[in-house]
Amino acid sequence: MSDDAPRWIEVAALDNVKPGGLIQVIVKGTQIVVARAVSGLHAFQAICPHEMANLSTGRLEAAHVVCPRHLAKFDIATGAVSPGWSINGLRIYPVRAVDGRIEIDEAAVERAPPFRKKTTWDLT
Ligand code: FES
Repeated sequence: MSDDAPRWIEVAALDNVKPGGLIQVIVKGTQIVVARAVSGLHAFQAICPHEMANLSTGRLEAAHVVCPRHLAKFDIATGAVSPGWSINGLRIYPVRAVDGRIEIDEAAVERAPPFRKKTTWDLT
């Protein structure tokens, strides 16, 4: 199996997220939001790269998730932040529904951990 091969793991029942809703799940210790939008299921990092609010407590507006703290909007398909913000976008992750279960590719989460808050000085 190549390193890029998906490893699908069950994270929730599809019934756990209502249409237009958001839930938080944990994959490999990483907080991830699953959104059930008109366009289908989407998965992305839960922690806002601005000041670390949890996006699962935000709201879904069509193709965007709105951060509950300062109202940045992120495209749930690409992770891009709306114009006017100079912060990272969101990591997005492969997600699918299989027989009433929601599955996320945990290999993708391992390969691309969430973007963190931008800092001016990073001495690590
Ligand atoms: S914490 Fe998300 S926009 Fe500020």
